[in-house]
Amino acid sequence: MSTDSLFQPFQLKSLNIKNRIVMAPMTRSFSPGGVPTDNVAAYYRKRAEGEVGLILSEGTVINRPSSSNDANVPHFYGAESLAGWKNVIDGVHAEGGAMAPQIWHMGIMDNHHSGWVPPVPFEGPSGLNRPGNKNGNTMTDSDIADTIKAFGQAAADAKNLGFDSVEIHGAHGYLIDQFFWEGTNERTDIFGGKTLPERSRFAIEVIKEVRKQVGEDFALIIRLSQFKPSAYTNQLVKTPSEMEAWLNPLANAGVDIFHCSQRRFWEPEFAGSDLNFAGWAKKLTGKATITVGSVGLSGDFFGTFAGESSEPSSLDELMRRMDRQDFDLVAVGRPLLADPHWVQKIRDGRNSELKGFSKEALSELVL
Ligand SMILES: Cc1cc2nc3c(=O)[nH]c(=O)nc-3n(C[C@H](O)[C@H](O)[C@H](O)COP(=O)(O)O)c2cc1C
Repeated sequence: MSTDSLFQPFQLKSLNIKNRIVMAPMTRSFSPGGVPTDNVAAYYRKRAEGEVGLILSEGTVINRPSSSNDANVPHFYGAESLAGWKNVIDGVHAEGGAMAPQIWHMGIMDNHHSGWVPPVPFEGPSGLNRPGNKNGNTMTDSDIADTIKAFGQAAADAKNLGFDSVEIHGAHGYLIDQFFWEGTNERTDIFGGKTLPERSRFAIEVIKEVRKQVGEDFALIIRLSQFKPSAYTNQLVKTPSEMEAWLNPLANAGVDIFHCSQRRFWEPEFAGSDLNFAGWAKKLTGKATITVGSVGLSGDFFGTFAGESSEPSSLDELMRRMDRQDFDLVAVGRPLLADPHWVQKIRDGRNSELKGFSKEALSELVL
C-alpha cells in the first residue's frame, strides 16, 4: 500500500511541516538537574536530519517545586534549562525540522526508584494518583492559580525560544488527567464535580492561559488519553456524545490539535464504528488530530516496559485510515527512539532495513 499521504506537507498557524510524521514525546531522563545536555540536542537534531515532520520533545516540566519525580527529567524553566532547549531548537531548525516541547506537570506520583524526591510534597487535585493511593497534597486555590500561570509561562518561553508549537500534556494519569478522572479528583469546589465537563475546568483554564500567552497564531496541541498506566481500560468517556461534551469546551478554550493517545491505533473507540480516538476527535470537533500507538510495531509500549520485544509490522491499516482522512498526523514513538532514519526508510520502501524494538534501546540516546 502506498505511503504517499504520509508525505504530504501540513500547515496550521505557526506549524509548517514537510510530512505527517510526528515524533511522539518520550521521557529519556538524560538531563541531569533538569538541564538538556548537548547529547540531548544531538539526539533531537538527528531526528530532524532524519526528516521527521514534527518532533515533540519528551515531557519537560513547568516551574512548580514538585512538578517532577525524576532529577533527570528536563525542566522548561530556569536560565540554564532554557539555554539547553534553545540549543535543541536551533539544532532542529538547522536541519529543516520543526519542534514543540511537551509541557508537563506530573501531579501526584509514586516516589522514583532512585530515591530522589522533590523539595516539597507532590501536589494534585485530591492528593491521589490512583483511587485510594495518597502521596501528596491537595492543591489550594493559590497552588492552582500558580500552576496555571506556570503552564502559560512555559508556553510563552517556548514561543520566545523559537519553537514552532507547544503541546500541553493532558494524558496518561498526570496532573491535568488527575483533574479529569473521578478516581483522582474528589474536589467539591469549581475544579471538581460529578461530570467530566465540570472536572475539565482546570484543563480549560490552562489552555486559556497558554493561548493568552502565545497569541492566536501559535499552534496549540493538547495530548489526551482515556487510559492511565494504573487503569489501562479506563474510559473517561463511553459514547461519542460524552466525547463531544469533553472535547468541544477544550477546543473552544483554544486547542488547535488534539493528540489522541492510544496504545494501539487500530482499536475502535466505541462499538459500532471502526473509528479510533483521533478519528472520533476530528469528526466531533472539526479540529486537526494526531493518532499514535504501535505504528509499525507488533507490540505496545507497556509491553516494552515489561521487557517484551516488538517486530516491525505493516503500515497498511494505518494508511487505510490516513487515506480516509480519519486524522491529519501520525505520531511514532519507539521506532524513532531506536532509529533516526525510520522516516526515510518508510518513504523509500526500505522495509528490510527497519529495526524492531527492544528495551535495551531505552538505555541510551541513539544517534
Ligand atoms: C520510553 C518512553 C517514554 C515515554 N514518555 C512519554 C512522555 O514523556 N510523554 C507522553 O505523553 N508519552 C510518553 N510516552 C508514550 C509515547 O509518546 C507513545 O504514546 C507510546 O510509546 C506509543 O507509541 P509507540 O507505540 O509508537 O511507541 C513514552 C513512551 C516511551 C516508550
